[in-house]
Amino acid sequence: MNKENLKEAVEKRRTFAIISHPDAGKTTITEQLLLFGGVVREAGTVKARKTGNFAKSDWMEIEKKRGISVTSSVMQFDYAGKRVNILDTPGHEDFSEDTYRTLMAVDSAVMVVDSAKGIEPQTKKLFQVCKMRGIPIFTFINKLDRDGREPLDLCNELEEVLGIESYPMNWPIGMGKGLKGLYDIYNKRIELTTPDENGDIYVDLNEDGEIEGDHSLKEDSIYDQVLEEVELVKEAGSEFDADKIAKGELTPVFFGSALRNFGVTTFLDAYLQFAPAPGSHMTEAGTEIAPAAPEFSGFIFKIQANMNPRHRDRIAFIRICSGEFERGMDVNLSRTGKKLRLSNSTQFMADSRETLENAVAGDIIGLYDTGNFQIGDTIYTGKDKIQFEKLPQFTPELFVSVQAKNVMKQKSFHKGIEQLVQEGAVQLYQSYSTGEYILGAVGQLQFEVFQFRMENEYNSEVVMTPMGSKIARWINPEQLDEKMSSSRNLLVKDRQGAPLFLFENKFAERWFKDKYPEVELTAKL
Ligand code: G4P
Repeated sequence: MNKENLKEAVEKRRTFAIISHPDAGKTTITEQLLLFGGVVREAGTVKARKTGNFAKSDWMEIEKKRGISVTSSVMQFDYAGKRVNILDTPGHEDFSEDTYRTLMAVDSAVMVVDSAKGIEPQTKKLFQVCKMRGIPIFTFINKLDRDGREPLDLCNELEEVLGIESYPMNWPIGMGKGLKGLYDIYNKRIELTTPDENGDIYVDLNEDGEIEGDHSLKEDSIYDQVLEEVELVKEAGSEFDADKIAKGELTPVFFGSALRNFGVTTFLDAYLQFAPAPGSHMTEAGTEIAPAAPEFSGFIFKIQANMNPRHRDRIAFIRICSGEFERGMDVNLSRTGKKLRLSNSTQFMADSRETLENAVAGDIIGLYDTGNFQIGDTIYTGKDKIQFEKLPQFTPELFVSVQAKNVMKQKSFHKGIEQLVQEGAVQLYQSYSTGEYILGAVGQLQFEVFQFRMENEYNSEVVMTPMGSKIARWINPEQLDEKMSSSRNLLVKDRQGAPLFLFENKFAERWFKDKYPEVELTAKL
């Protein structure tokens, strides 16, 4: 690809993750988007993988059930001249550090909210990661076909709970059974749920924001009510500001129903207009790597254990930050300084050959990995060494203590722990007083995967004792006194040897802060 073509190809990319609390409608909306993109022909294809009730102890079974989730961790389609990459962020029990890290690999995020429930805890956490990165967030308030909360109330909640300005791009006309349509503030039109007397779905609005001439909707009292609400929103709310959207300071809000495919195209069209193309990435040395730079570079944000029990290989997901990916290319692995050829033993995952041959900055590729890669690794071509900024560490919330079942097998136990921790599967801590190993994670699934892989890949059965949820807070080592530790605030050290307390709950943390007001406690993300 020449320089011009590369630039053009990169400009076409739109890479985003959909974040939501379980059941808000992420799968349904993803499905609709794939339908528009012509990737799936029937609704239900994505849904099919959301089968519950799998045997938790059996990782292969989990993978089998999630079958297409491995390949569909990245979904790609072309729409309106853009190439769209959607990254999956698992919810439910699959929630893990990988979910957070996925947000490091996207250029924007779509937040799906259930109109009856508003902002839920999991959404809030994911949202905070987006905010920290300053990436644009687009909000889709779903399930308008059901009775939900007042739109005004939902917009206020967005601002209050998430601390971000919001701008309604459209406004519901009724809800539940009484849903008539959307008052499209941005496109200055009304979008109807069913065609009007003229057979139209879209009705233009005049300068005053009203329907010109006669229309059946005008006879409905809901029409005047919506005009009033929109007036109120325009007066009291934020102004539309594309700059603020780009910086993640203002979220455009769209209403609709994913299930009824209502408002989804309107959302997608506006999304593609305002979502950014791939941007630059900073290296540790402070150099900005532009996406259309000729040399290839990328980083690994997720490693997934393979489905095939006979192969120990895993799949490393790479976000391409610059240049173009080519089959068989030689790359440098920054951490080790080694050269790797991305061919033969390292095959590539993609839905089609075409997808891979055209992978450029903004795209995600999956490489079969036999142990070369770690999360956060940078690969690049060219003479100048590149190491992208470290991926942030996330504060684990769930903890278990872990031991080898068979004390005679300490060696494989230690080897397994070391490798899986390095890979970023779980966080490892060690108790100051007893030396006992403690694992930390943001989701239960991480422990299950750890246990399964210890047994299958390292032949080491482990005993895990749940310790429940804890609040992890790092302490300045100079202020540390081991006597500060108690059963309610366990003193441990992390893999780098830095001390931290695992507080039993908020009360324990507050009690500690009252007792030692001079001690600084910090959280990771
Ligand atoms: P998730 O991926 O965010 O967990 O949510 P998912 O899309 O699976 O949707 C959760 C439930 O909400 C599903 O119902 C889905 O059909 C429903 N849903 C999604 N969008 C809408 C919408 O716009 N309106 C209404 N009324 N429902 C919606 P379910 O009963 O859990 O599953 P199923 O029986 O439909 O398979």
